[in-house]
Amino acid sequence: MLKVERVHTLKGTIEVPGDKSISHRGVMFGGISRGKTHIKGFLAGEDCLSTIRCFRGLGVEIRQEGDEVEVIGRGTNGLTEPTDVLNAGNSGTTMRLMSGILAGQSFLSIITGDQSLRSRPMARVADPLRLMGAKIDGRNGGKLAPLVIRGGNLKGMVYQSPVASAQVKSAILLSGLYADGITTVVEKEKTRDHTEKMLRAFGGNVSVSGLQVSVSASKLEGQSIQVPGDISSAAFFMVAAAAMPGAELKIKNVGLNPTRTGIIDVLEAMGATIEIEDRFESGGEPMGTIVIKGGVLHGTEISGEMIPRLVDEIPVIAVAAALAEGKTRITGAEELKFKESNRIDAMVSALGTVGANIKALPDGMEIVGPSKIQGGAIDSLGDHRIAMAMAVCGLFSEQAIEIEDSACIDISFPQFETLLKRICR
Ligand code: S3P
Repeated sequence: MLKVERVHTLKGTIEVPGDKSISHRGVMFGGISRGKTHIKGFLAGEDCLSTIRCFRGLGVEIRQEGDEVEVIGRGTNGLTEPTDVLNAGNSGTTMRLMSGILAGQSFLSIITGDQSLRSRPMARVADPLRLMGAKIDGRNGGKLAPLVIRGGNLKGMVYQSPVASAQVKSAILLSGLYADGITTVVEKEKTRDHTEKMLRAFGGNVSVSGLQVSVSASKLEGQSIQVPGDISSAAFFMVAAAAMPGAELKIKNVGLNPTRTGIIDVLEAMGATIEIEDRFESGGEPMGTIVIKGGVLHGTEISGEMIPRLVDEIPVIAVAAALAEGKTRITGAEELKFKESNRIDAMVSALGTVGANIKALPDGMEIVGPSKIQGGAIDSLGDHRIAMAMAVCGLFSEQAIEIEDSACIDISFPQFETLLKRICR
């Protein structure tokens, strides 16, 4: 249980741990490359450790010490049949991206996950991979994990993705590395492009044109990667500082890939003062220091192509909206129903419990602020981002907010509580 109480203000300079999406991809790309891959700034959270565990199950040697990882690549065709079921834990990225890689292997693999992951939709990756020639079965008519995959003999295709999902796009592109001909994904809306960027850095054949991404069979070479700080983790502190008059916070070395910076745009639209300093680039990924000064926020509208640019930040944006003056409407965010929890219901329940004025919409939520946050006990539902969003809410609450089932924070941000204590004044 995590208990968070009201603070006077927030001040300081911090660094958040490595980007989750990029850390996963570093291990996966390293595993199927020739030679060694060194990863610095790796996120040693449970999700990315699940990816390491699964790749070890495929015969890849991986050394991990804190945020440093060395992957001894086995080349594109060097993975071996796992002797046991692969376990992706809570991690959708692990299961969906690995399904793409496993679809390219002629051996049998079975991949499962925890209770939450076993209830999340897998047809969105299994269906297109089947179209390319992989044999994939699973519970509920092949739609839910555990998934049983026997791949090989894939054929390239053009796939119009019906969901704006980087995991779906990435799974298909990864299988395209093993397919005959060209594999093209046409996105509904632009989603995070870490796969495209990293594939290129590892020597893969990839081309991007607007919403269309194509790959063909490629030989990848191991690389040295510097993982930027995760803007999705920084977002909790950004909202806390932006909504607290007098606060001043610097967050160093944060990833600023434009497909991920919707949180900056939205907080600015809400009236926050944000500046970016010390910009630099590594492996095609821009980074910099985010400087935020606190003030009074006002409500905003969030919809359309903005959603994929901040999809993981919506729980904490809902907290910002509860503290802001006026109405905030978030629409076009139905995907929130398929995350680690149903994040529309989870936030409506959690924020409603502590005194905010929030209602669910079929594809989002509406929040009218500012609410007097009274406090109380809420259930994270085992969802790390719900737990951290409500911890941020506790900083503004009359009485403490108690977050039950807070151990899930370790999934993406084990240092969260320590960093929070460091900046509270
Ligand atoms: C991710 C993509 C997003 C995001 C998830 C990480 C990735 O999921 O929510 O946390 O690393 O590709 P969807 O592809 O389901 O939108």
